[in-house]
Amino acid sequence: MSAKLIDGKVIAAEIRQEVKAQVTELKKIGVTPCLAAVLVGDDPASRSYVANKRKACDEVGIQSVLHRPPADLSEQSMVELIRELNHDPNVHGILVQLPLPRHIDELKIIESMSPQKDVDGFHPINLGKLVIGLDSFKSCTPAGIVELIFRGGYTTEGKHIVIVGRSNIVGKPMMNILVQKGRQANATVTVCHSRTQDLPALTRQADILIAAIGQPLFVTAEMVKPGAVVIDVGINRIEDNTPAKGYKLVGDVDFEAVQPIAGAITPVPGGVGPMTVAMLMVNTARAAKMAL
Ligand code: GUN
Repeated sequence: MSAKLIDGKVIAAEIRQEVKAQVTELKKIGVTPCLAAVLVGDDPASRSYVANKRKACDEVGIQSVLHRPPADLSEQSMVELIRELNHDPNVHGILVQLPLPRHIDELKIIESMSPQKDVDGFHPINLGKLVIGLDSFKSCTPAGIVELIFRGGYTTEGKHIVIVGRSNIVGKPMMNILVQKGRQANATVTVCHSRTQDLPALTRQADILIAAIGQPLFVTAEMVKPGAVVIDVGINRIEDNTPAKGYKLVGDVDFEAVQPIAGAITPVPGGVGPMTVAMLMVNTARAAKMAL
């Protein structure tokens, strides 16, 4: 047996087409959705993520404006930039690419953002709403994972979903989305992390296993129940001299070892990554509609 591949590129393209249709309707009534992206400093991975997000904006007809302050920008200047964007009626969504330089407190920046423009779903108000089941901007990666599961032909209803990783941008919002009452939720959720005892015993119980720990090839074949759906959130650069760029991307899952056992699996690249970007488009179009 070999796992079915859940193709994030295809599903993300489908979602971008849907957003494009929504954007066309908005333009008919004189509104062009606009995403302001803030990229601080010069981290190559962050630059590449922001470039991908802006390319997706172009494709769906969302205007994107890039702000590139230098890495030594003060925290106060960064807060002022966010406030300007909060008050700009032409800006519907604000994306601050993380991580920020160490001298800038990420939470302070996120909290300075208007929750109505927080298309990443990182603001405590949006996360709090998510916890109690209210409508909110959902973090793009967890929201994209739900779409991958359902559009890939699977369901979360009644399933035991094990999440490995408890980050504020993936593990925690993912858990809160999946435990809600609702058609695209109703799961039993276990969250594991670096202090979990006997991790393989838990991951082997998963009908759906979500790996989001940021460690290359962490999930091995022994950790997966035969037939499980395996979602790989990791994007790790590891040294590799074959491609000219000197690195290759691998996930948190040992794909070669796990594919023969799993029922379905997402590749890296081409799995969760494109979905994160597609959901940012969904959230930005929604922010523009909410501002009408
Ligand atoms: N850094 C890593 N993932 C993300 C993301 O989804 N959004 C932002 N803004 N920064 C990130």
